[in-house]
Amino acid sequence: MFSFDIRTSDRKGTFYHMSRWMINMNKKLMKEKIKFLENQISNQSELLRKLLSETDILNRSIETTKINFNFQWRNVQYFEDVEKSIYNILKYTQLLREWFSRKDIMDVGSGNGRFSYAFCRLGSRVLSTDISPEGLKNTSELCKYFPHHKILKSNILDFEPLDYFQHFDLVWCYGVIHHTGNAYKAFKNIAQLVKKNGYIFLMVYGEPRQERIEDYKELNEYEFLRKITKNITSDDKLSIIRHYHKSNIHGYFDAISPVINELFSWKELEDWLINEGFVDIKRTINSRNHHIIAKKER
Ligand SMILES: C[S@@+](CC[C@H](N)C(=O)[O-])C[C@H]1O[C@@H](n2cnc3c(N)ncnc32)[C@H](O)[C@@H]1O
Repeated sequence: MFSFDIRTSDRKGTFYHMSRWMINMNKKLMKEKIKFLENQISNQSELLRKLLSETDILNRSIETTKINFNFQWRNVQYFEDVEKSIYNILKYTQLLREWFSRKDIMDVGSGNGRFSYAFCRLGSRVLSTDISPEGLKNTSELCKYFPHHKILKSNILDFEPLDYFQHFDLVWCYGVIHHTGNAYKAFKNIAQLVKKNGYIFLMVYGEPRQERIEDYKELNEYEFLRKITKNITSDDKLSIIRHYHKSNIHGYFDAISPVINELFSWKELEDWLINEGFVDIKRTINSRNHHIIAKKER
């Protein structure tokens, strides 16, 4: 415990030290409080997700998500250089280039098809699935010269495993399940399509890392943009983004237009993977969003 010896001649200095001490104590208290609240919110979100997944309450949001992505794939031009997509696939999966040749790969929530196309170029047999007809149309066009490429319109939440004659060497799902409103169900549906000894890759939005101010700034900016654009049309949203974020229109539209954007803790995702029989669970890059590769053991 601290004790103070306040002498008259020394009073100014002592007050100075006392107030410094109080400011530091307050800062420490605030830090602990924020940490406590973040943990509470994270736990509550997890619980809420479990409860909501048992209800039908999310159906309207899911429909809106589909409409938003359809708009996005029709109106926001976005072509990633295929070499960049290939580079990212190798980096995120930590698999060798040669591994992909003649492998069966399912690209779930394939969007405009940038990764499907890259897998085709790596020599894989690819099934692209998405809820958005516009996205699938673009993907189909992009991959039209690859005879082993197929498309299937489906809602990840309504997967009927018996619809598939096969299981996959890699189920790739980049930036999708956090938009579905029932990420756990989406995950379970795709996890069962992985072959024994095959892989699942997931990119899932992460909660801010506690010491990273840039994570909080980024998420607060998205939240602000979502709020001010909440009740306007997709066309108007796009105009606002075009005005303010000329260099990354697709990225910003992607971040603010879907109605459902859940953030996950690493622990929650790791739990899911373990429960579904995955091993060698790795985060392959150091970023807020989780880039995860895991192997199916059973
Ligand atoms: C952020 S985009 C990512 C697209 C692609 N994976 C990429 O990285 O370029 C999310 C995609 O998930 C799709 N999606 C969202 N909810 C879905 C659902 N319930 N079932 C199937 N696809 C869904 C959207 O239509 C959209 O194309």
